[in-house]
Formats: sequence, C-alpha cells, structure tokens
Amino acid sequence: MSAVLAGVGLIKKYGSTTALAGVDVEVGACDSLAIMGPSGSGKSTLLHTLAGIVRPDGGQVLLRGERSEMGVPPAEGWGRIDDLGENRLSALRRKRFGFVFQSGQLLPELPAEENVALPLMLEGLPRAQAVERARRWFAPLGLDGLERRRPGQLSGGQAQRVAIARALAVAPDVVFADEPTGALDQATGTEVVRLLTSVTREQGAALVMVTHDAEVAAHCDRILQVRDGRISNYSQFTVS
Ligand SMILES: Nc1ncnc2c1ncn2[C@@H]1O[C@H](COP(=O)(O)OP(=O)(O)O)[C@@H](O)[C@H]1O
Ligand SMILES: [Mg+2]
Repeated sequence: MSAVLAGVGLIKKYGSTTALAGVDVEVGACDSLAIMGPSGSGKSTLLHTLAGIVRPDGGQVLLRGERSEMGVPPAEGWGRIDDLGENRLSALRRKRFGFVFQSGQLLPELPAEENVALPLMLEGLPRAQAVERARRWFAPLGLDGLERRRPGQLSGGQAQRVAIARALAVAPDVVFADEPTGALDQATGTEVVRLLTSVTREQGAALVMVTHDAEVAAHCDRILQVRDGRISNYSQFTVS
C-alpha cells in the first residue's frame, strides 16, 4: 500500500485527559480504515487530528503531495500539515479532504444538488457548472430524481448518501467519516456504508471511518481498535 496520509506519534491532551497517547496510523489510496473503540477512547480526536481539525500536542500528521510553506516539495513528496497556518489548513481541508458526519450536515434550505455543489462553488466553480457536476453523483448513489429535494424531504439514508456525494464532489484524497451510520437503522446503515466504501474506493480516495458498529467496520479493509488513546488492536481484513 502506498500511503497518502499518516499520523506519527500523535498525542493530544485536554487538561488532565490524554485523548491520544501516541498513535501511529496510515492510510493509502483505495484503502479504508475503521477506527473502533469504547466511548471516550479517542476515536473522534484521532479522526479530527488526522483531518487537520484538531492540532496535536505531539507527533505529526503527514500528507502526500503537500508542499511546505516555502512552496518546495518535501522529501519523498510528503508534507507536514499539523503545523500549517489556519488559512492553509482550511484550504487544504476543502480541496483534499471530504467529510461525512452522523447527521445534520446538509444545509436545510438548499436542494440536495446544491448541497453537493457547494464545495465545488467554494473552490471557485461557477454555480451552473458546479450543479451540473454535482448531479452526476445522484445515479451512482441511488439518488436519481431527488436532486431538487431539500434535506427535510429526504430519509436519513438518502440524506447520508447526499452527504457522501458532497464529500466526494471535490475528488478528495481522503474521506473522513465519524459515525456515518450512527443515526440509521441496521439495514439502512449497511447500505450507506457499502456505498461509502465502494464509491470512495472507485474514486481512488482513502477512507477513515469511526464507528462503534462491528458490522459497519467489517466493510473496511482494516480495523484499528483504540482504547484510552492508544491502539490496542490492529487487524487486516479482506472484504468482498
Ligand atoms: N474538546 C474537548 N475538550 C475536552 N475534552 C475533550 C474534548 N474532546 C474530547 N475530549 C475528551 O477526550 C477523550 C476522547 O474523546 P473522543 O475522541 O471524543 O472519544 P470517542 O470519539 O472515542 O468517544 C474523552 O475523555 C473526551 O472527554
Ligand atoms: Mg466520537
């Protein structure tokens, strides 16, 4: 596997709580990693740290193809992103990362297709082009005919599939998903995670997904167990 994103010796503290106690992890293109563990074990902190949302107190987050502050590619094409300024970091997140959360991430006043088009417009694509490109995601995600629906007119599973389309619209290198099936029933959750893993892989992106559901995690190539901010188990899966 050729890694695209790596966390090295990640440490994060909140006051006297150690959320991450030295975690090493990497993901590659077309690779999916599930992060599991008990509540409060540091799963979300790990995901947010890898995604450049939370800054670690120790260790580094490395992303392939990132340039250093001086515009010079670092050795072997890797760039450190945890120490970038906030503006660079948020531009990088918009361009190279996609995000799917448990629920409530779509803008309620916008039709589904415009929710998907939004990240493209933020990247400077004119509205009509962005919406045209956004529409292409609807059929592959089983959302044909729902383009003009507002989030309130979608089922939970449909809304999550729109969120997946939005995360993938910018052709990100890494998709981060925190409990993407957490608000869904088992059958709908299975359908959503199946689409999330397959479409992300088809796009050549990496997937980092937090879940407490072993069945959901089993759709990923590898499962990382976190306990008290440390990796307690690491398994390699081959899933059909
Ligand atoms: N912003 C924060 N401020 C203070 N403590 C936090 C914050 N975020 C997380 N924590 C603490 O860090 C630990 C790990 O949290 P988290 O990563 O959210 O766990 P998980 O996602 O596995 O439930 C917990 O003890 C939690 O209370
Ligand atoms: Mg969490």
